[in-house]
Amino acid sequence: MQKGYILSLESDAWLFHADLLVDKAHVVMLEERGIISSEDAAAILNGLTKIAARGREFVERELPAYEDVHTAVESVLIREIGEEVGGRMHTGRSRNDEVATCIRIAVRDELLGLAEEVNKLRRALLKRAGENVETVLPGYTHLQHAQPTTLAHHLLAHADAFARDFARLEDAYGRVNACPLGAAAFASTGFPIDRERTAELLGFDAVLENSMDAVSTRDFVVETVSCYANLGTNLSRLAEEVILWSSAEFGFVRLPADYATGSSIMPQKRNPDYAELVRARAGTVFGCLVAVLSICKALPYAYNRDLQEVTPHLLRAAKTTAASVAVVRGVVAGQEFREEKMRRQAEVDFTTATELADTLVRETGVPFRTAHKIVASLASAERGRPSLRKIDEFATCVAGKRLSELGLTEEKVKEALEIASNIEKREVKGGPAKKEVLRMLQARRSDLEVDERSRVAKEVKVKRRLEELEREVEKKRIMP
Ligand code: ARG
Repeated sequence: MQKGYILSLESDAWLFHADLLVDKAHVVMLEERGIISSEDAAAILNGLTKIAARGREFVERELPAYEDVHTAVESVLIREIGEEVGGRMHTGRSRNDEVATCIRIAVRDELLGLAEEVNKLRRALLKRAGENVETVLPGYTHLQHAQPTTLAHHLLAHADAFARDFARLEDAYGRVNACPLGAAAFASTGFPIDRERTAELLGFDAVLENSMDAVSTRDFVVETVSCYANLGTNLSRLAEEVILWSSAEFGFVRLPADYATGSSIMPQKRNPDYAELVRARAGTVFGCLVAVLSICKALPYAYNRDLQEVTPHLLRAAKTTAASVAVVRGVVAGQEFREEKMRRQAEVDFTTATELADTLVRETGVPFRTAHKIVASLASAERGRPSLRKIDEFATCVAGKRLSELGLTEEKVKEALEIASNIEKREVKGGPAKKEVLRMLQARRSDLEVDERSRVAKEVKVKRRLEELEREVEKKRIMP
């Protein structure tokens, strides 16, 4: 006998709290509709209240003995108050709609908690960006020096990615927070249950209507874990930069002590293990996504036990992602930026070449492609800052033109080669110029406030409904 094979203890422990809420809401509704008597409802709700109070102890002591959390709660209830009464709790429902409802309740909490973490991370990034509007940074493409920018511009880029992650989580929440309860095994029930009522008591925004769809689908899990995977990708990119930037080669940041580790042999080491694990755990979450997709693929309608195997991957992805967001926030908030090193590196490898080519276009009217050729030949042949005389030499060779005769001045060349003016000139929408970065900072701060308010409103709505549920339970379990 391999009885343990069909258990999924860890995710059932995760669903314990939600299961009791679902039981209570269902019993309240059964009583309201006269499907069970007030006396029976009172006894069941009293029994459920006792089980809820047992908390962790119930999970550790009772859960392992049963097929799943739903069976455990019902069986212990019957053990305590007898089958004549306790045996009425499961009227008009099935474990299929029960588990689907529990998962949605549990994942909704995870989504709200994660969205809050993401917003804290966004706030930390905006704060660091605000402190570094004038901090010069070499911008990279292909990890090669490309053009100068500012640290604020760079941090705002990450903040925008996490703002989209927030939006995706919020969007997923809308589809998660619909209630399958009352779908029963898949064909609903002949009892006159009220699905709207249980959905309301449990804080759902809608009823997931078609009873066959309601119990069979885990597309909300695919969607949620996709959000985690996308977020994980964004986290891993930031983590990768922290790893690179804290190396001696870059030397752009000093890791916060809380997020660095030493070596067991090399006394001088300050290793970015936390960031490395953020990078790695994005991979763990991708694995969860592939697992969820693979399990759900090609399942015939309606319920199949395969669906139980989805839940641990959801749980793992949720916990992993939330922990990684918190770590990245700690690193972002605590890392020390080495501004001097960034500034010095921003000059290396002719990062002003694009601006020089642009200046040739603006001052002399040569086509950009011609200017590109002139500056490219200069860049590959010359070390150091090109003078007007040098530019003329190369322009004559490449394009048969002396640019000084077409309006290019020593002063304009000098300006093109200045890092600060390179940045300030890029003031188009979204560019790194101070004015534009300050505008973006302001806009992102107010977007963040709007997002956080919308998140809190969801949290409050659920909380109020669950308080209402507890009031109903209290009313009904104390018989007059
Ligand atoms: N623990 C199960 C799950 O997660 C509950 C549903 C069992 N239903 C059934 N028909 N065997 O899916």
